Order: sequence, then structure tokens, then C-alpha cells
Amino acid sequence: EKGGYDWFMLKEIAEQPAVVADTLRGRLTDTGQIVLDEVRLSDQDLRDVTKIFIIACGTSAYAGMIAKYAIEHWTRIPCEVELASEFRYRDPVLDRSTLVIAISQSGETMDTLMALRHAKDQHARILAICNTIGSTIPRESDAVLYTRAGVEIAVASTKAFLAQIVACYLIALHLASVRGVKWGDEVSLIVNQLREMPGKVDQVLDTMQPVRDLAREHLSDARQVLFIGRHVGFPVALEGALKLKELAYINAEGFAAGELKHGPIALIGQDTPVVAIVPSPAGRDSLHGKVISNIQEVRARGAKTIVIAEEGDEAVVPFADHLVRVPRTPTLLAPLVTTVPLQVLACEVAASKGLDVDQPRNLAKSVTVE
Ligand code: M6R
Repeated sequence: EKGGYDWFMLKEIAEQPAVVADTLRGRLTDTGQIVLDEVRLSDQDLRDVTKIFIIACGTSAYAGMIAKYAIEHWTRIPCEVELASEFRYRDPVLDRSTLVIAISQSGETMDTLMALRHAKDQHARILAICNTIGSTIPRESDAVLYTRAGVEIAVASTKAFLAQIVACYLIALHLASVRGVKWGDEVSLIVNQLREMPGKVDQVLDTMQPVRDLAREHLSDARQVLFIGRHVGFPVALEGALKLKELAYINAEGFAAGELKHGPIALIGQDTPVVAIVPSPAGRDSLHGKVISNIQEVRARGAKTIVIAEEGDEAVVPFADHLVRVPRTPTLLAPLVTTVPLQVLACEVAASKGLDVDQPRNLAKSVTVE
């Protein structure tokens, strides 16, 4: 049932192009319309939204962080992301015009469910993004958009994560269109690019052998690995670090690259590999150059760098001890391609250490206690 793969996780990583395509199917038309009639929130409800909270745990919370960038940029609705286990204990300000998006692969995560119930008590509207049909979280929500990742067996979430990110883009674009946000060239470009994402994820998967070699040869003995990124590359860094700690039991941390100099750079030494997620040079602002400076900073302190960068980005070459290429992608969609090498990396390090990739110690697939 592992379809010829050694681990369910490997099979699930390989399924990602299909999962991205399935999660888009019928919801993004050939003419670039977003069709989310299945989400039972009226257009009026969506127009009334003044504030969005995303609540989730673990990897699902990182999908939420990525969503925040897209939602605020495309819809201009203020959006906050919060770990479900923290959310209700700080007395968040919610009312009827608040949309709470609960993201959960299993639909049974108790922390997320309790946060959702708290939001419901405060009369917020609840929209679930969930992978498990008929599970508790969608049942208790006002509306649901299902991800179509299929059953995810490995404890470490991979294909569900990509599907969650796609679902978040669809919701953000739907909100923008219902609210009449000016559909500028950038958004039209995004809609077209979304259609190309399954092919791009496939392209990444085709080029993973060097990542596997790197994992075995250079990372299986590491005691500590740091991940850095900016903008949507920051949650991708957090996700890469989470994968490595949960699977390979290596002390791994993700940082916003700009924060390095405010403390974490003290951790860097010759024996600390740093994985850097580099934004597209075609992106807005000076993000690309800023991340390159951060890579130079860690290299100056002796760190070996593993750099994830777009094809054609030559500026990174002098600063990469190991370079992993991903296809050109608009910044906001890039997590769909930049996450994949980090999944492969963690899986391979764990396998090379002889660990149980699908069932890491101390973890359960569905966390049904608070
Ligand atoms: O089922 P959920 O999406 O609600 O689960 C949330 C987390 O428990 C889950 O993402 C966890 O962090 C995974 N082990 C990550 O690989």
C-alpha cells in the first residue's frame, strides 16, 4: 500500500502535484474565475468581514501564516494568525464581522476545536479548511472548504500542507473578488500561475536526488540546523525546521532572517548548517537582496549554507555551499515549491539515521487532547 515507496511519507510527498491539482479542480476555472459555491458563506457575509483570524496548530498554523500574507495583500482585510492553543486564553476581540478560519488536516485537533468553540461563542463566523470529510471541526463550523489531499498516513504532514496553502489562496482570491477589490494585473497573473503549480511541484520532485545526497552526506550528523527566510519564506523556514526536528530529532529552528542579528546569530558556528529560503529576484521590494545579505552574515561566521533559490538567480551562487533550484514562481505562491526540498531533506536525514520516518517517537497523527 506504500505504492513501492519505503515510507508513506515519501509516497505522500510524491503525490503533491496531484494534490495541488485536485484541490484546485473545479474551483479555479479555465477563464480564471474562482468558484467556491460549496463554501456556504453568502457574498454578503463575506463583504461584511472586517477582520480575519486564522487558528491552527503545527504545520497547519504555518499554512495559516502563509495565508496571512496572501489575504492581506489581495483583500486588504486585516488578518492575524494564532496558535489555537494560545488563542482563547488571551481573550481575543471577536464579533459577528470577524471571520475565523480554522485549518486542520485531521479535523479532530482538540486545541483547534476548543479555539473554534470559543470564537463561536463570541459570534464570529467560522470557516474550516479541512482534509477529513465529516470530522468534528468542519461539522462545528459555519462553512468548510475541503482540501483534497486524500488520506495522509505519515505523522509528518506534507501533502496536506500544500493542499491547505492552495485552499487558502482560493479563499483569499474569492474574498477579493466578492468584495470587488480591484483585480489588478498582479492578481490575474497569480490566477494563471496557480494553474501551473502542479507542474512546478512535479519539476521540483524530479530534481531531488542532490538533496537526498546532501541530507545523507552532510546533515545526518548535524546537532543543530537553522532555517532562515523572509516574508512567506519565514513560515517555510519554520516548517522546514519542524520537519527536521520531528523526523530526525535534530535541534532545528526557523528564524525570520532579519531577526538573526537580534540574537540567533550567536548560535552560528562552523558546525551549524543554515538552510536559507531565497525569495524570487523578480519579487517586490528588496527582499531578495536582504536575504542574500543574511546569507553572507552567517557564512562570515563559518556556517555552511544550503540555499533554496529560483532557477536563473545567479546572485546566490557565490554564497551557496549547496544550491537547490526551484522553478520561477511569484513570491506569494513560492511556498508550494520551496517547501518540497525541505520535506525531502528531513525525510532523508531521518531515514539515513535509521529512524521510523512515518511514526516518529512521542507523536500522534491526530492530537485529540489539549
Ligand atoms: O490535523 P491538524 O492539521 O489539526 O494537525 C495539526 C498538527 O498537529 C500537525 O500539523 C503536526 O504539527 C504535524 N506533526 C506536523 O508534521
